[in-house]
Amino acid sequence: MKKKTLILGIETSCDETAAAVIEENTGTIPNILSNVVSSQIEVHKEFGGVVPELAARSHIEKIDLIVHKAIRDSGKDLSEMDCIAVTAGPGLIVCLSVGLNFAKSLALSLNKPFVAINHLEGHALSPKLVTDLKFPYLLLLISGGHTQFLSVKKYGKYKRLGTTIDDALGEAFDKTAKMIGIEFPGGPYLEKLAKKGNPERFKLPKPILKKGGCNMSFAGLKTAVLKISKLVKNDEDRNDLAASFQKTIQDILYAKSKIAFKEFRDISKTNQNTFVVAGGVAANKSIRKTLIDVSLEEKFNPIFPPLELCGDNAAMIAMAGLEKLKLKKFDNLNHPAKPRWPLDNKAAFLKGAGVKL
Ligand code: KG4
Ligand code: ZN
Repeated sequence: MKKKTLILGIETSCDETAAAVIEENTGTIPNILSNVVSSQIEVHKEFGGVVPELAARSHIEKIDLIVHKAIRDSGKDLSEMDCIAVTAGPGLIVCLSVGLNFAKSLALSLNKPFVAINHLEGHALSPKLVTDLKFPYLLLLISGGHTQFLSVKKYGKYKRLGTTIDDALGEAFDKTAKMIGIEFPGGPYLEKLAKKGNPERFKLPKPILKKGGCNMSFAGLKTAVLKISKLVKNDEDRNDLAASFQKTIQDILYAKSKIAFKEFRDISKTNQNTFVVAGGVAANKSIRKTLIDVSLEEKFNPIFPPLELCGDNAAMIAMAGLEKLKLKKFDNLNHPAKPRWPLDNKAAFLKGAGVKL
């Protein structure tokens, strides 16, 4: 019997040190043999955000242990790996360099193929770890650093339909959380408070809701939260503000998804209406519900990664590695770390993000 392809994935772009082993399957969905994620929440908590130097130091301390654990948990041997896949960007350069150099050393010493992966592509392909996901599809990427609608034609072929013109959605969640006194990382805690609050109590702005196509803006929302947060006196106020903020985000995503659906239909010329939502914020259950509702209304099929694969992990990096390996797109060991690495290069450098308001 032919040996099944094994990929070791490594991820250190921000504050998670992660390694995973996946195995190609006879079907289209691979087996996740191990998926180890070590978070640095405790390291950064007292600073209220990720401190790059501390993050890099923590990656250096843990990378070999995490990779060893991923190999051990997989029940395989390091020598059995067919390819080493690693995040090469975008992210914090001091953090990226740790995983990238570790992966290069492994590939060189074991004489294995090496592939450098775009972290955003990892998120974009993450549902492929559990679902038979076919190209093309519409992608909404909502993470700590990115908020974009993209048309995904095939592996490596992206067209950006819309982007945030200021803060990323995860960033807006984290900053709002901080303003109402929630510890880092705020997003998941804000969701918990929102469950207990009244979403109709505070009226918050929805910037560029009716203009700018499916581009988005969250900075004005943050300023409004800052003003109201000064009046927050007790838990009830806090929960109501969290709920009102989250509801406003849901309303914005609902309206902007409708526009993105139309644009995707116009350019993709396909009846295959698949809507993939990925990235850390895709773990938010209320946001999921809104995006499922709007998809069903507009006859799109919504697909989310399972909760444990929404945030940063190395299984998604191994998944992107497997796709790249199948296409025989190997990388050289001199591949640089790329702190900036847009999926749609053409759109990324447009003046003012190319947004017409
Ligand atoms: O994809 P990710 O793990 O890292 C990046 O690539 O940025 O996303 C992290 C972001 C953080 O801003 C975090 O607060 C947010 O995702 N996040 C959430 C939730 N879980 C994570 N935001 C809202 N609700 C959640 N449940
Ligand atoms: Zn990420």
